[in-house]
Amino acid sequence: MSEELETVAELAKRRGFFFRSSEAYGGVAGFFTYGPQGAALKRNIEDAWRDRFVTREGNMEISAPDVMPEPVFESSGHLDGFDDMIVECPDCGASHRADHLVEDNSEYEDAEALGVERVAELLGELDVACPACGASLADEPVDDFNLMFETAIGPGTSQPGYLRPETAQGIFVEFPRLKEYARGKLPFGVAQVGTAWRNEISPRRGLIRVREFTQAELEQFIDPETDEPPLDEVADVSVPLYSAEAQSGDGGIETYTVGEAVEAGVIESDWIAYYLGVARDWYASVGIDMDRFRYRQHLAGERAHYAADCWDAEVEVDGEWIEATGFAYRSDYDLSNHAAGSGEDFTVFRQYDEPRTVERATVDPDMATLGPEFGGAAADVAAALDDLAARDPDAFDGDAVEVEVDGEPYEVDTDVANFSVETVTESGEHVTPHVVEPSFGIGRLFYAALIHSYREDEVDGEARTYLDLPAELAPTFACVAPLVSNDEGIVERAEEVRERLRAAGFEVAYDESGSIGRRYRRQDEVGTPVCVTVDHETLEQAEYDDATVTLRDRDTTAQARVRAADLPALLTELRAG
Ligand code: GAP
Repeated sequence: MSEELETVAELAKRRGFFFRSSEAYGGVAGFFTYGPQGAALKRNIEDAWRDRFVTREGNMEISAPDVMPEPVFESSGHLDGFDDMIVECPDCGASHRADHLVEDNSEYEDAEALGVERVAELLGELDVACPACGASLADEPVDDFNLMFETAIGPGTSQPGYLRPETAQGIFVEFPRLKEYARGKLPFGVAQVGTAWRNEISPRRGLIRVREFTQAELEQFIDPETDEPPLDEVADVSVPLYSAEAQSGDGGIETYTVGEAVEAGVIESDWIAYYLGVARDWYASVGIDMDRFRYRQHLAGERAHYAADCWDAEVEVDGEWIEATGFAYRSDYDLSNHAAGSGEDFTVFRQYDEPRTVERATVDPDMATLGPEFGGAAADVAAALDDLAARDPDAFDGDAVEVEVDGEPYEVDTDVANFSVETVTESGEHVTPHVVEPSFGIGRLFYAALIHSYREDEVDGEARTYLDLPAELAPTFACVAPLVSNDEGIVERAEEVRERLRAAGFEVAYDESGSIGRRYRRQDEVGTPVCVTVDHETLEQAEYDDATVTLRDRDTTAQARVRAADLPALLTELRAG
């Protein structure tokens, strides 16, 4: 761990931002507790996210369960494909990410893309040793390890369930109901801020790779043929892009406006481009240093099992680029799979501008017309024929037609299928929406915001540290302090200032222990933007409305004398930036 990370981790623990959970019992890797300051900062980041991606975008927000039944993850592909590569040490039994070990011991940057067999070979070729005990891992097998936490739902012969590895699935499975709330009209977005769980093989580096974390995900449902994002709104936003092409060649990060990047084809999807533009300013507003930020396009082999195009927002922490958000074009992958898995309707009705007269084929639904050679699949074959006839009447032009059921081809004589064509007028058709997904990891953003806002300077010849957090994000917005704690009049007036500010809706701390200088330093370290001090001069005026206090700015440490009665207006202005 670098000095920067160690200093911030120490501050985070000492001042109550975050610390390892269950330390009384020795702690457990990959789980952290957010302390009083941290819980407030995390909540403020989540609220800022809601404000930008739910309220301002006019999207819905839901809150679905963490535990979901097995069929959900059979359909989503997580049961089969949500694996990392594991290698176990023969001596000490420690488990490691095999692909990470290859990366740590070679020039490879994305060893996962090489596959299990090649990674196993490389452990031998590179003579990789166990980071925990030094034993050789050269001849050890590498296996796929599914990252989902499994549980049993209910007692006895219970059904298997899994803690969701992404909040997204809680949105997808509810689509049949959610589309009704959107009155069946695309585009619409559904968001969720909640816990995701991954049984990471090697949790590491503070909040960056943990086993329980908060995601803020937006699933934007669109009709890929007709829906366009409001690109004009973000066309002039500058975005630092590290494209797949630049990564494959010698290129680096290039700054484009969103409009230019779309025009030049650097960003393929207009919807992804729109959200990269919206999110760029949002990151800056939550304390991410824009000199330590980039958008990186996934290389083709790197994309998740569901993603057609994908960009990551990456933040630099400790000299490494860390993914903070994934922006994925998930196409109709999720909704089509849940439709197939559940038999429910995951489509919406696309209304034509004008009714269309079309030829539609129908197939005799009477199973008796399909002979015994179709066995138990007769009903499914008939349904597949019916489906094909609705989509493509021309498929029945020949003597026979072929359909696939459960991966098996079935050929049926068109006579047997008893196919007929009618001319019908249709007002629209059913389509499965596509999904564009910005998926934010709140913990990683929290961690980056802490690190990027950490400052050291000197005040009155003394070293000080402070967090330069944006005012609306700071865990505590103001701290009220009596200059001295042994003067009853000053303490009473300070308590009155505190109560009035709390009644006006400000999160205000109160601190009367230690010298005023030490109290300022304590507030600086947790990023409190202003301190209000009540002193002897305050008491010169008997009426609260006439009394004055000092207002101290965290970053400059400058102090100004202001009327106590003006504080709510002044703080509101400061908070708005
Ligand atoms: N629904 C898409 C999805 O889950 P992802 O890239 O696997 O995509 C999205 O995760 C975000 O969740 C990441 O960009 C990251 O910020 C966060 N994240 C993923 N795994 C994490 C972990 N083990 N610890 C902390 N944050 C994690």
